[in-house]
Parts: sequence; C-alpha cells; structure tokens
Amino acid sequence: MKAKAVVHKEFRIGRIDDRVYGAFLEHLGRAIYTGIYEPGHPSADEHGFRRDVIKMVRELNVPVTRYPGGNFVSAYNWEDGIGPKESRPVTLDYAWRTKETNEVGIDEFAAWCEAAGTELMLAVNLGSRGLDEARGLLEYCNHPGGSRWSDLRIKNGRREPYDVRLWCLGNEMDGPWQVGHKTAYEYGRIANETAKAMKAFDPTLQLVACGSSHSLMPTYPQWEADVLDECYDNVDYLSLHMYFENYEDDYLNFLAKPVILDRYIQTVSGVIDYVKAKKRSKKDIYISFDEWNVWYHCRRQDSDNFKSWDWPEAPALLEEVYNFEDVLVVGCILNTFIRRADRVRIACIAQLVNAIAPITTERGGRAFRHTIYYPYLLASRHGRGESLAVAVDTPRYNAKAADDVPYIDVAAVHDQAAGTVALFVVNKHPDEETELTVDLAGFPSARLIEHILIHHPDLKAVNSADAPDVVKPQLQNGSLVEEGRVLCRLKPRSYNLIRLS
Ligand code: AHR
Repeated sequence: MKAKAVVHKEFRIGRIDDRVYGAFLEHLGRAIYTGIYEPGHPSADEHGFRRDVIKMVRELNVPVTRYPGGNFVSAYNWEDGIGPKESRPVTLDYAWRTKETNEVGIDEFAAWCEAAGTELMLAVNLGSRGLDEARGLLEYCNHPGGSRWSDLRIKNGRREPYDVRLWCLGNEMDGPWQVGHKTAYEYGRIANETAKAMKAFDPTLQLVACGSSHSLMPTYPQWEADVLDECYDNVDYLSLHMYFENYEDDYLNFLAKPVILDRYIQTVSGVIDYVKAKKRSKKDIYISFDEWNVWYHCRRQDSDNFKSWDWPEAPALLEEVYNFEDVLVVGCILNTFIRRADRVRIACIAQLVNAIAPITTERGGRAFRHTIYYPYLLASRHGRGESLAVAVDTPRYNAKAADDVPYIDVAAVHDQAAGTVALFVVNKHPDEETELTVDLAGFPSARLIEHILIHHPDLKAVNSADAPDVVKPQLQNGSLVEEGRVLCRLKPRSYNLIRLS
C-alpha cells in the first residue's frame, strides 16, 4: 500500500497545551491504596508513597493529574481526609461500593503531586453536596491563612497554600449512575453559582463544567447547549469523557473508533460556538477531555463483581491488562488530541495506576508498564509544541463504527525551540506494509533523528510483571529523508514515531 502526506511549517493548527498529556487518579480499587500509596512497601518514602511508581510517573512527565474522582467524588466529603490519620473516619464509597479509610486526602495527594512533578486538578462534589463544600475546599487549598479553613490547613502541617488553579465542577453529572445526578438545567445552575462563588474568591481560577459522559448519552449534545446556556460566562472548559472497547474482537472496527472521538470534539466545539454566538460573547471555552482510554477487558466482570460485594477495602478493580492492539487505538486517540489542539486544551488518560491504567503494581511487590504506557510516553515526550496540519492521501475503509476511515493516521508536531518535528503515524492496515511519503514544506534541510516503532506480531500480546518488555518501543531502520521528503516503510499494524531535526 502507498500513502502520501504533506506538512507545511506555516500551516499551524495551534499550540499544543502540555496539559493534553495529563492523567487521572481516583479513589477507586487500588489506584491510591497499594497503587501510589503503600506504607511498608520496600520502595515507600517517608509519606508512604511508592517511589517505584513516582519514578514511572516522572518518566511520563505528566503535566496535570485530576483527583479524587470520577464517580467517587460525588459522595465524597473532603473533610474526612484531613487532620491526624488516626482520627479520620472510615467511610463508604457509594460509587464503587468499597471502604474508604481516608488515609490519603487532599494534603497527602498534593504532596504526592509535588513528588511526582505534576499539577493538581481538583474536582469538587456537586453530587451529594454543593457550593459551600466547594468553597471550604477552595479556601483550605488556596487561602494563605487567617480564616477558618486556611488556618486548619496550617494546623495540619501545610503553611503555604497549594494554589490549585484547575477545578472540575463535579463529575459526569449527566449520568444516571452518578450520586446526585442532575438534569442539564439543574446542573448548569449549580455549576454557574459554584463558579461565581469560586471566581469571587479568585477570578483567575480555571473552572471545568461537565459535558457529556460519552457521545452515546441520550442527552448528548443538547446537554452541552443547556449547561452552557446557564454557565458560559463563568466557566473556562467543558469536560468530555470517552472510553473505547472491542467486545466484538473486530480489529478494524476497533481502530475506526477514534474517528468517533474526532466527531465528538467537532460537534461539541460547534455547540460551544453556538452558545457563544447566542450570548454575543467574545469569550472562548475549550475542551477538557479529562477521561479517556481503552476500557473493556474486564469491565463487565468488574461491574458484576462490585454490585454485589461487601464493601471491601482497596480491592482489585478495573485492572485492565492492555495488549498491543490497544497501543494502536491509544496512538490514534493521542493523534486526535494533537490535531484538535485548537479546541482541546486538557486531556487526562484514565487512569494512571492500577485502575484502567498504564502502570500496574503488585501489592507489596513490583510495578510494571503496560503496553499503552509507551504511546503515551512518546507523545508526552515528543508531542509538545505546535500542531501542524497534515494533508493525508491514504487508502480508506468502511467499518461499523464509522465510514471512510483512513488506514494511515498522522499527527505532526513542530517544536520550534528544539528545532525538531515529530510525526506520529499509525498504520492500521491489518496485513499490508505501507510506503508513506511525507512532503515537509518549509523544512528544506530536515534530517532524520530516529524512527521509533511499537509493533508485535500478536495483537493480543501483553506485558506483565514477569515479562515487562514484551511490547515496547524499539529503534527502526524504516525511514530516510531526502530533499525535504520523508520516505517511511510502515509495518502493518504499527505505531511509529519519526523524529526530524
Ligand atoms: O474512570 C472510571 C470511571 O469512569 C469514573 O469514575 C467515571 O467518571 C467514569 O464513568
């Protein structure tokens, strides 16, 4: 198969916000307890945080981490997680029917963020609670001192405010499964009033309102229009979520699904523009895609389990084992965010450790990187800078999920400061090697730095603690550059990063 692409230095989509390589950690299963926090573990630091996990998170260079949920946040009382650990209550988490010891709360998580080099993105509970709880948490985190909540933070050992910039106004409030689920109007009102109060405290805060939980929600996309009608003037981002599945074990259909993601972003961008026009506003609202990933390997089994279990503490839950096929989908998702840099300013892989995550830990034992760790790592490392428009001439196919799906998926990033260009290319074709020619207009003297490949002959190949390197990036002799053109040979079913300077 042959394909052609053209990239022009001056055809810029927009600057990629570093925060599109963000992540999410929820009080869910073993994400926090025995994931990031395990006092007594051989690698634990003085706070009980696993250093082996911090090392991997640092390697990923995660710019921002959303916390503490997710569905968990909608019945969470943040005050249960502060103060001396021995006096914190054990509570019940209604979202996942587990026991919450509250050993990790806002102070511990903020300390973990500092250790892991990531910015904290904090969600407030607009399910079972509301404006006043959000106000207290905001003052606890951000006020220097001299008030009830800020003085309590100081008493609890933290003098400097955390100065949290990014706040989620609830989670998935369109979902009937959510504790305190609301209609779009009810949610839009509470989001607006909470946003107004939070901005009265600090007008520079960045606030995220809930959009749809996925593009199949019956209320989508009217939800977005109705919510923004109420809160457009006081929020900065609209949150979207989407998870990808391959229950039918249909490779090409699975690889077609990122096309739905692209349409989802396009439609919601249209709704944002519609409300902006309706309000005669000059202000822009961007998308915070703060939950995305592949999620299906153990999803049905988990959902049967947790509905009937007896409130266990830190059980194994949503512990997906990712395979090589998932690498290709994750690669296409990340490419989509790069190409939509003009609209998507924040995106969070859901999640980071143990629950639907690129990193898994053994209780008391090893930590290892799943297959999907690697496309995320490569995009986070080399996908920062200016997103360039790519015109791709590629064979296409029709699938159940979408028609006219390109076999070759390309995103291009120009890092002006470093003087490099990164081409992220997924060849979805099941069995044909592809010769891809990329015309690099405006880069006459480009030279190849490296071609990195992620490939495995078995789509279902996985990594494990005993065999952590089954699927991982490797250097490839598959590309050459001549006279401003890149000629690449792409293996069928492969993820490729071609770096140029
Ligand atoms: O990430 C797992 C769950 O998926 C989150 O708690 C929820 O927001 C979403 O439905």
